Amino acid sequence: MKKIIALVLVSLLALSGAAFAETLKMGTNAAFPPYEYYDDETGEIVGIDAEIADLICKKLGYDGVEIVDMDFSAIINAVVSGKVDFGMAGMTVTEERLQSVDFTTSYATGIQSVIVPEGSDITSVDDLFAEGANHKVGVQLGTTGDIYCSGDIEEAGLGTIERYNNGADAVVALVSGKIDCVVIDNQPAQKFVAANEGLKILETAYTEEDYAICLNKDSELTAQINEALEALIADGTVQSVIDKYITAE
Ligand code: ARG
Repeated sequence: MKKIIALVLVSLLALSGAAFAETLKMGTNAAFPPYEYYDDETGEIVGIDAEIADLICKKLGYDGVEIVDMDFSAIINAVVSGKVDFGMAGMTVTEERLQSVDFTTSYATGIQSVIVPEGSDITSVDDLFAEGANHKVGVQLGTTGDIYCSGDIEEAGLGTIERYNNGADAVVALVSGKIDCVVIDNQPAQKFVAANEGLKILETAYTEEDYAICLNKDSELTAQINEALEALIADGTVQSVIDKYITAE
């Protein structure tokens, strides 16, 4: 009898070991609060995406998520090459990205906003496109802000675009007067403005966007992650994670 119990225990352990001792790898760019950023105290990557990803992985029987920090512009390649299992980075669903990756159901919306120094001559987004405009606009390389500004401002001959590896670096350049404004998603914009003296967000903004998780095309994980994500949306978990980080202001 003892032997049987021991055997059962050992096989149960082996089974749960197989099911729980694994993680999924998520590619992100952790300079994008409140979606992903380093916690000052623990030094760990936290945020809306980090938490939702962890919940999804656990729902799928994994131990949790392993977060791999990289430049935003490297995430899609990391997903396509299999270096990470999925990308989650406040990433906007765009037609162009859909050519290389699949996206899940959207779990949040974002808005592209403009950060300026207080007292800036830029008082609305339209000032960036006005005849004769010539501003230095900071963006995060490879983001939708970069894509919009490259077309609407640079190609239109209305200014120059400075591309930074992450939003935090763009904000540092803005604070030091190297550039005139930063075009970035509204939630990180609010965090950056709160953390730096003398900056504000213009009331008018670029378009609204949908954030989703990206996966390798035809990945078996897409359906599973989608199912877990949709359940977490349906039972209000996703909203409560978002509220936890966004109502804090
Ligand atoms: N929503 C924008 C995009 O998809 C910016 C996302 C940047 N995310 C980040 N973690 N740095 O292009």
